[in-house]
Amino acid sequence: MRKLNIVFLGFGRMGRAAFASLKQIEGRLRQEGIDPHLLAVFEADENLVSELTERTGAKAVFVDIAAAQPIPLNQLLHQQLGLDADDEFLVYDATPSSCHVENLVAVCKHYPRAVYLGEKPVFTSRGGLAMLERFGSRVLCDFVDSQNESVLKVLAMQRGLFCIHRLRFWRLNSSGLQKLSDPHMRRGIEGGALLDKGIHDIALAAILMRNQQITPASWTVEEAVNLAFMPSADADDLADAAGYAKLQSLASPSLEAEFHYSWIGVQRFDDLSSDIGEPSLRALLARRGLEENSWLWRSPRCDKSWAAVQEEEARVAIVDGTEAGRETQLVVNLLSRPGIQPFVYHTRREEFLDLSPHQSCETPLARVLALAIHNYANGLPLSCSPLGSGIIGQAHQACFDIRDEALLREPFAAASEWFREECLVNG
Ligand SMILES: NC(=O)c1ccc[n+]([C@@H]2O[C@H](COP(=O)([O-])OP(=O)(O)OC[C@H]3O[C@@H](n4cnc5c(N)ncnc54)[C@H](O)[C@@H]3O)[C@@H](O)[C@H]2O)c1
Repeated sequence: MRKLNIVFLGFGRMGRAAFASLKQIEGRLRQEGIDPHLLAVFEADENLVSELTERTGAKAVFVDIAAAQPIPLNQLLHQQLGLDADDEFLVYDATPSSCHVENLVAVCKHYPRAVYLGEKPVFTSRGGLAMLERFGSRVLCDFVDSQNESVLKVLAMQRGLFCIHRLRFWRLNSSGLQKLSDPHMRRGIEGGALLDKGIHDIALAAILMRNQQITPASWTVEEAVNLAFMPSADADDLADAAGYAKLQSLASPSLEAEFHYSWIGVQRFDDLSSDIGEPSLRALLARRGLEENSWLWRSPRCDKSWAAVQEEEARVAIVDGTEAGRETQLVVNLLSRPGIQPFVYHTRREEFLDLSPHQSCETPLARVLALAIHNYANGLPLSCSPLGSGIIGQAHQACFDIRDEALLREPFAAASEWFREECLVNG
């Protein structure tokens, strides 16, 4: 049995989800001869640290980020866990995105045999991408969707007779509205809706194109609209709240991909879309007979600060293509919430396709972790996996291109003013 040490950084929402997912895959990894051992969990919240050992069975390490001179992560790994330069271990980074580049460098530079698996976005500015060039073979990012049941089905169809011609994605939720009610509250969101929401679909488009031998899929940004901005924790910094972008792949055959992303909810985003002449997602799906309760997740909020706001979320892709030469359209639901399951709806056949070969009790995040651990433990190349540096680079690069283009077209101030009026004054 080969023991693989794992270190978690951050035990917030994603850290906890990853811990539960690791528990799900322990058994099957052991059957493969790999013992995934959670060695330690690093946390910056002192209260949380005090209960971590009991909750996880791993060593809990407090990261004092408020110290006058915080101890660098590479030193903590050595001092607290006795790790040395020739040790092999996997780091899963679920800290806020602003910590990622520093953590990545601390791990990859000082521990040349370790691998870094980071949450998205790994980079919030172009400058960070240089680190991907330097350490890319040991950097992975968890975009989760590569292991979603619906995506596994589309990938399998592509290996058969299905060929994609056009991709349209919607990833819409309301979490930014909470941020608007309290701009100084961090909620795991950095870099705006584009980097928080859009990046998943941009990565997914790259994965689907690669599966169709459209490589390397470099892009040109045909359209980029940031529909509104909202204040972020740093009062001088305004993050995008919603956006629309169209990318054209430059490879042959060329493929067009459109992205809609928001953290202002489905309804509000649909209104904005109509304003710029883009289709309403709800209308598009209603026309295909798809009931809202099969793809749109709603949760009424009770807390005072945003009592009037209903939380809404959707993750939908409309995929146009041909199947054995015949025009075909798929509606792909990527969302999994209580009562809502991923599905692939074939609009010509008017039926939901069978996803059962891809369904298991494991979460997509559990499958992502299993893939990373399996490849690392078996010395398999990581850069060409769906989590590897090729997709990480493309997804971040496309986001930065879209952001630059949108900022050129739409000055911050006017959009921000409009958004404030719309959401704060009118509630
Ligand atoms: N893949 C996805 O679908 C998905 C979904 C949500 C969030 N995310 C990403 O996951 C990351 C974490 O988001 P979250 O929602 O879990 O945030 P969170 O705020 O719930 O958790 C972050 C945790 O990290 C801790 N922390 C902060 N600085 C630290 C440091 N230097 N060392 C150790 N711990 C530190 C905080 O105390 C907190 O407990 C973000 O990058 C976010 O974009 C990904």
